[in-house]
Amino acid sequence: MKHTDICDLKRDYDKLIGSEVTLCGWIKTMRNSKQICFIEINDGTSLSNVQIVIDKENFEDTYGVLKQIVGASLKVSGLIVASPGSKQPFEVAAKQIEVLGSAPADYPLQKKAHSLEYLRTIPHLRVRTNTFNAMFRLRSQLAYAVHDFFRANNFVYVHTPIITGSDCEGAGEVFNVTVHNYGDVFASQEEYDATDFFRRKSGLTVSGQLEGETMAMGLGKIYTFGPTFRAENSFTPKHAAEFWMIEPEVAFADLNDIIDLAQRMIKYITNHCLATCSDELVFFRDFFEKGLLDKLDTVANSEYAVCDYTEAITLLEKADRKFDYPVSWGLDLQTEHERYLTEEIFKRPTFVVNYPKEIKSFYMKQNPDGKTVAASDLLVPGIGEIIGGSQREDDYGKLIEVMQSRGMNLDDYKYYLDLRKYGSAPHSGYGLGFDRMLMYITGIGNIRDTIPYPRTTGSLL
Ligand code: 4AD
Ligand code: MG
Repeated sequence: MKHTDICDLKRDYDKLIGSEVTLCGWIKTMRNSKQICFIEINDGTSLSNVQIVIDKENFEDTYGVLKQIVGASLKVSGLIVASPGSKQPFEVAAKQIEVLGSAPADYPLQKKAHSLEYLRTIPHLRVRTNTFNAMFRLRSQLAYAVHDFFRANNFVYVHTPIITGSDCEGAGEVFNVTVHNYGDVFASQEEYDATDFFRRKSGLTVSGQLEGETMAMGLGKIYTFGPTFRAENSFTPKHAAEFWMIEPEVAFADLNDIIDLAQRMIKYITNHCLATCSDELVFFRDFFEKGLLDKLDTVANSEYAVCDYTEAITLLEKADRKFDYPVSWGLDLQTEHERYLTEEIFKRPTFVVNYPKEIKSFYMKQNPDGKTVAASDLLVPGIGEIIGGSQREDDYGKLIEVMQSRGMNLDDYKYYLDLRKYGSAPHSGYGLGFDRMLMYITGIGNIRDTIPYPRTTGSLL
């Protein structure tokens, strides 16, 4: 269907005044005067609508159909004219209108303002609202920026498996993959696993890191960017059962190197969004977070704080604030602690480094103090953790010792141990929660509003 994208028309309209154009789109609003009907249409390529001016006399038949149908789709041809109204610089005087699809009165988006909660119940339609139009365009630009950043820094994009036999984080949050059916009977777990599709226990990946490490130990610098699954029973605004993670892994790099990489990446992708999605970000500033543009400017241009876990605990213990969860050395930081550190103390993105080894994953590099590991989380205001990363334990003996002490089955991780046997090298990496990054960039408060079809406990719309 030959027509012009509204985003292109918007960019070039001043050169096109007086010429004819064909547009397609959905009706957003309609206003009537006696003679004239104004409708605004949007084709999804831009946050802006285009105003179509309809002289009712010329369109008696179509107008009769149009009357009721906010949400209907149209093809309109007409003349681009300078608009006498101050709201828009140009409008289209309709010469021909074709109704492509009507929308009866029960179209749920007739009314203008709907709560985000309600819109979550209609994921197939909410994409037609301004909020989700802006969100999903930003999501696309952000993904593009991630690839752009890594490509420009000599990283190879690798595809790690979705179905895997190893639980990277060891937190028991794996969704099982099985072909067994309800009612099948097994004498033991071993028999269940041995007779299943892969002849062993398998699940959806909670992280591409372990396979990513193997790729980095041949390609030097790699990143993954894919869907990640966790059966966490948490009803928080920042957890989803299916989310997207970006995991760079770098050979010959220590913790400081990847902290530096993470900072450069966040700045790059933030700048890219500022440069390519200014309308969308202004929209989010106006409707979701007042100081958004200033915040993003700081994110893109200032140095982030770095704070030792031990120092963070001291700061939290001294805080003039009662926390719901207790604070003491050895305990994991909860969101309220993370937010206090980054919002009240450092007032900018903050890397916390060197966590106690007991609260972190088996693969992290043990520090010489015997108590902590070379790990780092990046905390940001409004959310808390958006990145988790570490230097990896590259010592064969030490890694085996930790895995055994955690009761892990070494046979499942033979490939991983091989990396420490053949040409082992210091290496490091991190995982950025892509959807959380979008929460941060847009100021939207719930991860469910950054994903087209969010999957959370009890919800699979
Ligand atoms: O801190 P996590 O668990 O780290 C890893 O998975 C490492 N294997 C990464 C690595 O070193 N390659 O997760 C990394 C990030 C978190 O900081 C968070 O942003 C995001 O992934 N994340 C989630 N996002 C949404 N919903 C969930 N349930 C998430 N769990 C983690
Ligand atoms: Mg983490």
